[in-house]
Amino acid sequence: MGPQEIKPGVWWVGVVDWNLRNFHGYSQTYQGTTYNAYLVLDDTITLFDTVSWKYREEFMCQVAQVVEPEKIDQIVINHAEPDHAGSLPYVVDRIRPQKIYSSRVGDKFIRGRFSSQEWPLEVVENGQTISLGKRTVQFAETRMLHWPDSMVSFIPEEKLLISQDAFGQNIASSERFDDWISWPELKKEMAHYFANIILPYSARVPKALEAIQALGWDIEMIAPDHGLILKEHVGDAVAAYQEFAAQKPEKKAVVFYDTMWESTEKIAEALASGLTSQGISVKLYHLKSWHHSDVMAQVWNAAAVLVGSPTHNNNVMPLVADMLTYMQGLRPKNKLGLAFGSYGWSGESPGIISRWLDEIGAEQPLDPVKVQHVPGHEKYREIVNTAENLARHIEDQVRQFGSK
Ligand code: FEO
Repeated sequence: MGPQEIKPGVWWVGVVDWNLRNFHGYSQTYQGTTYNAYLVLDDTITLFDTVSWKYREEFMCQVAQVVEPEKIDQIVINHAEPDHAGSLPYVVDRIRPQKIYSSRVGDKFIRGRFSSQEWPLEVVENGQTISLGKRTVQFAETRMLHWPDSMVSFIPEEKLLISQDAFGQNIASSERFDDWISWPELKKEMAHYFANIILPYSARVPKALEAIQALGWDIEMIAPDHGLILKEHVGDAVAAYQEFAAQKPEKKAVVFYDTMWESTEKIAEALASGLTSQGISVKLYHLKSWHHSDVMAQVWNAAAVLVGSPTHNNNVMPLVADMLTYMQGLRPKNKLGLAFGSYGWSGESPGIISRWLDEIGAEQPLDPVKVQHVPGHEKYREIVNTAENLARHIEDQVRQFGSK
């Protein structure tokens, strides 16, 4: 995709990665992604962010279609992660900028990651404004959204927020704006991104949004570093981020499990059946069929997480350990938990899962479900009853948070 002018004199010069499926080594993306970078043509020509090192040459071609790279005066690095700053050594060599702006932490990260001692690095403080000539740029730190160095850049004359990871989505497309996609589909991709990248730092989101509001920024367009540029759904996106960050539990349960000889799977299905009979929406994931990032994309607003594994070598199955480790790192809030599993003789897995759920902070109102060998009809009925009981706790949880 060639460069595109998104506002008069403001160009998208990013790269579309159509075939990416593994985002950052841990999250699945089904629609690829983009690495967005922006070029502002003013008295001082300024580049905002770069792209992954893999695409450095394509990136420079993009830039060169808008302006001779050597004419770029300065670079703003909103976020030093390699998908945005990875091409920096190549870009700096080529354009020899007079300044490279970043946050104070960004400055440390750039110095730490690159052999950058000779680069003209300059720190911008939270709330600082620089002039480009006809336009200005204001900066606000958005620490931990997604790294400690993260900041956003606002160009008030264009009502344009360049937001790095915030409001990003993994969508590769020939279109640059959000006017071709339905809001539910865009929100789904934004939620998948948030649940796997931003979720541990949810508490920072309302603070960042309040800080931006306090600066009085009048935002008409949000240009993130991944996916589509928001012009139709700016308000929707801000509201969605508030919703994602609040993690209000909905009348929904996520059941994930692995199974050896299908006994644990039978328990999972009995639990799902009991929950749905009580009007709880259920997402059922056999971990051999689903990626951990897809499960997390449903966990953030679920009231309950039910986790199952047969006992294998006195422990849980490897994929269950993977999912629990991943979920623990993402620190979901406001969850009820239930452990379950089948066993042949020793039966440790439900207890192990239960302790893990404790560490994650999931409240467990019911004892783990443990079944020796295969659940027969009577046991199946008992498990359904347990799920119906859990459904009442879910109703209470949802009422308590005033969600739906
Ligand atoms: Fe898109 Fe945190 O990098």
